[in-house]
Amino acid sequence: MTSAETFAIILAAGMGTRMHSETPKVMHQVAGRPAVDHVLAGLNDAGVTQSVVVIGPELESQSGRFAPHPTAVQRDRLGTGHAVKIALDETDISSNTVLIVYGDTPLLTSATIERLVELQRSGAGICLLAFRPKNPAAYGRLIVEGDQVDRIVEAADASPEELLVTLCNSGVMAVSGDKLATWVRSLKNDNAKKEYYLTDIVALARADGASCTFVEGSEDELAGINTRADLAEAERILQVRYRTAAMEGGVTLRDPESVYLSFDTEFGTDIEVGPFTVFGPGVSVADNVIIKGFCHFENAVIGRDAVVGPYARLRPGAAVDAEAHIGNFVEIKNARIEEGAKVNHLTYIGDARVGKGANVGAGTITANYDGFNKSFTDIGENASIGSNSVLVAPVAIGDGAITGAGAVVRKDVPADAIAITVAPQDNRENTAKRYKEARATLAAKKKAAPKNTDKGS
Ligand code: UD1
Ligand code: MG
Repeated sequence: MTSAETFAIILAAGMGTRMHSETPKVMHQVAGRPAVDHVLAGLNDAGVTQSVVVIGPELESQSGRFAPHPTAVQRDRLGTGHAVKIALDETDISSNTVLIVYGDTPLLTSATIERLVELQRSGAGICLLAFRPKNPAAYGRLIVEGDQVDRIVEAADASPEELLVTLCNSGVMAVSGDKLATWVRSLKNDNAKKEYYLTDIVALARADGASCTFVEGSEDELAGINTRADLAEAERILQVRYRTAAMEGGVTLRDPESVYLSFDTEFGTDIEVGPFTVFGPGVSVADNVIIKGFCHFENAVIGRDAVVGPYARLRPGAAVDAEAHIGNFVEIKNARIEEGAKVNHLTYIGDARVGKGANVGAGTITANYDGFNKSFTDIGENASIGSNSVLVAPVAIGDGAITGAGAVVRKDVPADAIAITVAPQDNRENTAKRYKEARATLAAKKKAAPKNTDKGS
């Protein structure tokens, strides 16, 4: 664990022009949460709890979402060096090590953060996290002499020879706390982009006689998100990580590549997940659950031994208790399906409770919204709801009660009662036969009649 002697500055103010988006780049979602939140979680796991997040003005109204971390607003985006300067101007930092992390680098792990900080502590003015990406493209290049980095040259300013360098800057660096401010305040913007590059502090540190070392990490951790394609690649890498962890923990994924997990998906053991299933944020699944594939879950809890899907949708607030069954084309929202209850076909259950052991017939709808208010439907234990019922909320079906098929239930049903709301059936003997004969005679007459061939003048 990295001690409280480390302070982190997270740069998250860039708009990310290459994303072509109204949403600031670092707020784009990866595996169920914004990229910058992955960075903050990685820092937290590494024991770095003191930090400041540099944000752009468009995120100012949401600065509370970063709590307990304070934010500093960079109004004119004059580059990564300028962003660090704003953080230093607005924050009282007295730590020995200042870690600078870019908010568009969500794959970074806590182990690597710890490794970097340790190396800087062994006497470096700056320790950089470097990597060798398959396509160095727009990354800054490390110009190295022996074990020292002389300077970083940004791709836009690099000579053709410098562009051949494959060792690139990940943007993550650990800097000596008592030197950082001096170096950052000496940055100039005489470069291709007319920006204050943070990366220029390397040359300044070297000129100051400080040591500047680097450690290499893997692209799977250090790739930055600058485009939508980068975003998709980051998603792919995180999904591989999460799927592997799930399988290692005792979950069978029939077709791992078609199962999408979130950063906080929680699994018990001996779970089976069929193909094409999406676990949005806030989902937990207990032991021995079978998920039959083609499902979509968000903020939902699935209890032990439950069977869900195929084609089930659990929306926020869905709680499927132990041994309950949720079948195909069933949508559950803000509702508890109690132990052993069955909701197996073509049904919407919203704002409701389905009591223990109850059975909900195919095509049942809880009519929970009248255009103004959401109301609650309570289905008692061991109740049986007939197929194609509409339960008009607020309404309560008592324990053990039955509703007839096709019922529109507007009044509470007492326990153990049967509620029938459709008109009694009237069987008219032989009328179907007579009707069919009449239609057949009509069709035959039409066929026999001479055709009108007059096409007009
Ligand atoms: C930066 C590095 C480059 C490195 C790459 C790694 C610089 C000058 N270049 O380039 O050497 O290889 O990251 O991914 O640092 N930001 C601000 N304010 C600004 C500009 C940027 O907060 O004025 C934030 C962005 O939100 C982003 C991070 O800083 O999270 C990096 O900015 P970005 O524009 O993505 O820099 P790169 O071109 O990727
Ligand atoms: Mg970037």
